[in-house]
Amino acid sequence: MPHIATAVSKNACDPTSLQLGATHEQVRLILDEESGLETIIAVHNTMRGPAFGGCRYQRYQTRQGAITDALRLSEGMTLKNALAGLPFGGGKAVIRRNRRQTDRARLFQAFGRAVEEQGGAYITAEDVGTTDADMREVQKATSHVSGISRDGRFGGNPSPKTAHGVFVGIRAAVTKLLRRSTLEGTSVAVQGLGAVGWALCARLSEAGCSLFVTDLDEQRVIAAQEQFRATAVRPGDILTREADVVAPCALGAVLNGHSVTRIRASIVAGAANNQLSMLEDGDQLHARGVFYVPDFLINAGGVISVAREHLGASSEASVMAEVGQIAGRVDELIQRVRTSGKPPARVALDWARSRIARL
Ligand code: NAI
Repeated sequence: MPHIATAVSKNACDPTSLQLGATHEQVRLILDEESGLETIIAVHNTMRGPAFGGCRYQRYQTRQGAITDALRLSEGMTLKNALAGLPFGGGKAVIRRNRRQTDRARLFQAFGRAVEEQGGAYITAEDVGTTDADMREVQKATSHVSGISRDGRFGGNPSPKTAHGVFVGIRAAVTKLLRRSTLEGTSVAVQGLGAVGWALCARLSEAGCSLFVTDLDEQRVIAAQEQFRATAVRPGDILTREADVVAPCALGAVLNGHSVTRIRASIVAGAANNQLSMLEDGDQLHARGVFYVPDFLINAGGVISVAREHLGASSEASVMAEVGQIAGRVDELIQRVRTSGKPPARVALDWARSRIARL
């Protein structure tokens, strides 16, 4: 039997090991020697229902770095699920990638056991670095998992739904803020051509947008140049590119002290989680006349998909319609910002928090 060591922190966290979690309901560090698993499962808030949020698998320099990521991402899930009207709270898992993890199937089975140990308080799915195949391994140990394709039934990889939500959100923002009836001729600078960024480019290109693109992977950039007639931009220049819209679809914290004073687009709207390094960076964008559509509002398409899959209902058409409602929330956000005069990030935060209540 694998050895599972667990450090549990409830409510106020142990300040030496699991910092920054004072607002979280529960944060667990789980180690499994046999598979090399080192995972942090953060349950931020379960007022609306069990904590739902994906599992990220990547390298972290330090354990504290992984914990900080899990805490920030799980809090974002609480806001996202509440604004999307889902009957779920917010949670997230991160698995720290290391060299001892030679058997991927065994690693995700061990992660599945860790999820099962939470007794349904946390439900997992794909996130950056994890796949449908990984979730199948997780499913061998727990039923608290989603994002798994099944023959002839709705479900699986959430990325196309995330891209659809970001696309309709950008269209709504451009229509309202730039007073255009279509996206034809709108310029969009896309940072990151991964699962979401690529699918977003496909939709934007179909709608007649001109695209500026970047990725650390040169092959993806070349493919986007060929497929979408996109213009390649160096990674360091994408956010400050002159364009109508900048769409961060790679990393978090890209809207920071270094970038916010230099952004030239009218709108920032993309898929990446936790784009603002600090809330004050959103204030600065607002003061400069840049409209930032908060990530947790516009990138909810994926969690809507995996949540509906988990609840056992839904067809492709009904989920696409539900994801399409993100456009209405962007409209409402713009209205609320106009009425209150406050920055969109703060307006969306207050709006989401007002919806965190028992259902
Ligand atoms: P992915 O891992 O498939 O793609 C990320 C891409 O960004 C990769 O091609 C990578 O090479 C590129 N990249 C990384 N650093 C970069 C940099 N500094 N400059 C330019 N490109 C860079 O990830 P995915 O699934 O497309 O997700 C993208 C973002 O959207 C992530 O922040 C993720 O948390 C967020 N997100 C994804 C959802 C989904 O359904 N996949 C749902 C909600 C949010």
